Amino acid sequence: MSEQIMIHPGAGKDETYQELLPQIRSLIEGETDLVANLANVAAALKETFGLFWVGFYLVKGSELVLGPFQGPVACTRIGFGRGVCGTAWREKRIVVVPDVDKFPGHIACSSRSRSEIVVPLIHQDEVWAVLDIDSESLGSFDACDAFYLNEICSLLTSLSC
Ligand code: SME
Repeated sequence: MSEQIMIHPGAGKDETYQELLPQIRSLIEGETDLVANLANVAAALKETFGLFWVGFYLVKGSELVLGPFQGPVACTRIGFGRGVCGTAWREKRIVVVPDVDKFPGHIACSSRSRSEIVVPLIHQDEVWAVLDIDSESLGSFDACDAFYLNEICSLLTSLSC
């Protein structure tokens, strides 16, 4: 198993995800421990894209609780339907926020975060976790991110649930 993420220099975003996906697969498919896999996926995304914050919140009862992440310290608990993460949980859909200041109820764990994407991890129609990514730039995330991040989250679900 390779423990180093390699992306060829100059790759565009789509190409980067296409190179990253099989490397993430080989990184996590031989490992059954959930925390280890979530931690390595967060690290692989942070390292590849140089993002501000990448991490998982896990559904525990009526709240999302902070799981493995890379970046500055963050809020530990988020209620159902609260903020971007809670919205993705309640609505069972990917939420892309080009400007966090324009998202009503956005939870600002850091004033440095300017845009955000949250992808729910869904098993048998129930959200069991969300992947949350924050950028220091406006408008960092688009349909390309949504597509590939959803692939990564589906892979995690198929290995973990
Ligand atoms: N901004 C998120 C909270 C989590 S932090 O960004 C890490 C939200 O509104 O749900």
